[in-house]
Amino acid sequence: MAASVRMDLGDIQGDILRAYGNDYDCTTYAFMKIECPPEQARAWFTGVVDHVTTAAPWPPGEKPLTTLNVSVTARGLRALGVSEEVVGSFSREFRDGMSSRSALLGDVGPSDPKSWEPGLGSGDAHILLTINAQRTSDHERALGKMKAAMDAAGGLRIVYQADTELLPGSREHFGYADGFAQPAIEGTSDDKARGGGVPLKDGEWRALAPGEFILGYPDEDTRVDPKKRLPNAPAAPLGRSGTYMVWRKLYQDVALWRRVMRDAAKLYEGGDEHTLSAKVVGRWTNGAPLVKYPDKAPASFDPQTPGGNDFRYDKDKDGMRCPLGAHIRRSNPRDALGFEGHLSFRHRMIRRGMPYGKVLPEGVTADDGEDRGLVFVSFQASISRQFEGVQVQWLNAGNIFGLGHDKDFLLGDPHGTGKMTIPGKPPFFLSPQEVFVRTRGGEYLFVPGMTALAALADGTAG
Ligand code: HEM
Repeated sequence: MAASVRMDLGDIQGDILRAYGNDYDCTTYAFMKIECPPEQARAWFTGVVDHVTTAAPWPPGEKPLTTLNVSVTARGLRALGVSEEVVGSFSREFRDGMSSRSALLGDVGPSDPKSWEPGLGSGDAHILLTINAQRTSDHERALGKMKAAMDAAGGLRIVYQADTELLPGSREHFGYADGFAQPAIEGTSDDKARGGGVPLKDGEWRALAPGEFILGYPDEDTRVDPKKRLPNAPAAPLGRSGTYMVWRKLYQDVALWRRVMRDAAKLYEGGDEHTLSAKVVGRWTNGAPLVKYPDKAPASFDPQTPGGNDFRYDKDKDGMRCPLGAHIRRSNPRDALGFEGHLSFRHRMIRRGMPYGKVLPEGVTADDGEDRGLVFVSFQASISRQFEGVQVQWLNAGNIFGLGHDKDFLLGDPHGTGKMTIPGKPPFFLSPQEVFVRTRGGEYLFVPGMTALAALADGTAG
């Protein structure tokens, strides 16, 4: 087994290994199109790179007012002048782009790329700038600077912009605390191994190899055998310290979710809507996992406290506490698939989503026409193995859990044919599956390390 790895944090962009979302209230995602020759675009890009925030820790009390991070699509690499040969060294799914994988991802019916918002999935998005700000005023100043730099450079256009804001209590729009269950990474978050890492058979846990999330570092193959190949890392110098990013705008139909859960609960154990909804998620609204708290939510629960995320499914094989089809059990089955967790630990991802849109006031069950939902962001070394593996095989299919073609009830089924089984005596069935979440657009991106960004900016990336 590899010795503990030292990460070159100054070469890795920030926000991958550390959640800025918890420190910064507002996040803007601005997708740009390069409409000028590569040399002109690189002159602008050089100025951007100078301001990129790295993963190096901030000295105490010196948290920046704003942060900036940059990622590129395959078309963006070409627009910056990167050769076809080098672009060809990136993973297949990244080169193809998210919209071309829509059938696989289940982006059909109301989520079909044909109805995505203009600028997303059309090939126009080249560069994504992610700006985090502590306060609205800082945010506006940073956006103003970004726009002034673009105007001065010329030949650049914002094709899509999403402004997001943390909701009180780090909740998502269905009302659940979100974003705290993250993979524990060797050399970075070893202290989160219990519950965040790989469950071992002796009851212990271990953190995941960093190469599962940051290219150029040992991953779970190379950590046991250094001769094994590294995953889809592009040609040097781009491969080092980079990662792949999945960006998806997911609309949440909150009114529909509330009506369905309210009506279904009339037939469920004493009309307990709160418990029925928790069964769909696998956690209570405050984040407490059903496996540990099966009957009622603890009065207070802080998922960030040590041990808060430390649980397994071994004592709940039949799903009487947390249903086999619950969102968190599907998206990270931990030890639930048997074989000592070997079927699940290569499919982890770092999630950095942010909610967008105004909250639908509590108790309202009629749609108010507002656009609201989650900007889902994940970072991983392999989009196909990690993000797509989870989305396609675990959320959109039920076979591996013995659930046939039932999909994740929280997200929904565009064909409306599936159901969710809530194990019990007798079991309870939620059906049909409505579409609570619709994809409004998305992109597959690459987040270069700092050395790679400099090479892209000065035209030496190949
Ligand atoms: C609007 C859509 C979605 C909503 C409302 C949602 C909501 C949630 C909530 C409330 C949690 C529990 C809190 C936490 O563990 O941090 C969670 C966990 C998680 N979700 Fe989602 N989610 C959505 C979409 C997705 C998608 C598309 C994926 C992956 C393709 C995903 C993957 C995960 C994973 C990996 C976890 C952590 C499970 C664990 O480690 O125990 N989610 N989600």
